Amino acid sequence: MDFPNRPRYIPMNRRRRIYEGKAKILYEGPEPGTLIQHFKDDATAFNAKKHEVIDGKGVLNNRISEYVFTQLNNMGIPTHFIRRMNMREQLIREVEIIPLEVVVRNVAAGSLSSRLGIEEGTQLPRSIIEFYYKNDQLNDPMVSEEHITAFGWASPQEIDDIMALAIRVNDFLAGLFLGVGIKLVDFKMETGRLWEGDMMRIVVADEISPDSCRLWDIATGNKLDKDRFRRDMGGLVESYQEVARRLGILNEQEPPRGAGPTLVK
Ligand code: TMP
Repeated sequence: MDFPNRPRYIPMNRRRRIYEGKAKILYEGPEPGTLIQHFKDDATAFNAKKHEVIDGKGVLNNRISEYVFTQLNNMGIPTHFIRRMNMREQLIREVEIIPLEVVVRNVAAGSLSSRLGIEEGTQLPRSIIEFYYKNDQLNDPMVSEEHITAFGWASPQEIDDIMALAIRVNDFLAGLFLGVGIKLVDFKMETGRLWEGDMMRIVVADEISPDSCRLWDIATGNKLDKDRFRRDMGGLVESYQEVARRLGILNEQEPPRGAGPTLVK
């Protein structure tokens, strides 16, 4: 919900805006080859047909994604992430985004369940990787490796690298969340080409947060992810806070909801 009497966060307008997506804005970074990734409070679903501003979501996703990407970097899984700058922004390396959404699934849910008629919650015989072509006009259609190579979105070698990265990220994330009582049902990641001189590496890009994962509380089955918004369940910020709290990164002193007006007698 938006509050007309409370101004929305205004990004620094002197910076050059490179790209604005549904949930994030990219600004020119302080040094060549860097960008600033700004997390908005906007939540969208069904290709933005459903849209709401959810106070505090951007701050939580910035923090959770920072935590995940820092751990990935520390494990030697390359990412675009450099460091978090403030509540809503992080410094990242500029990469050439590969126009694919890479989805890894461990348990049936969402579009897999509806497309193939598999009941939500069914454990999959193995982790399944799917590719979707990142194109809002076309509603991000699912594509095969044949489409990806025929249309030049990525080479066969790059697809191998992307799949190897996706499996490593899945193994890491599944273990991370299992350790705090959360089942990683599925997630979406994006990748980019990072150029260092003549050398190019594929790295994990964008964000990894409850916006891009399905996270179910193991004890109760409660959904702790963006399905709360997609399915009108409410309690999205509380669920994201719960994920942050379990990961040990919720700063109780700095509540993500702006401190509201205090009643003065
Ligand atoms: P799906 O079941 O709707 O295909 O979603 C699979 C996973 O990908 C789920 O964790 C949500 C995530 N996802 C995104 O991050 N962005 C999207 O645009 C879509 C459709 C899914």
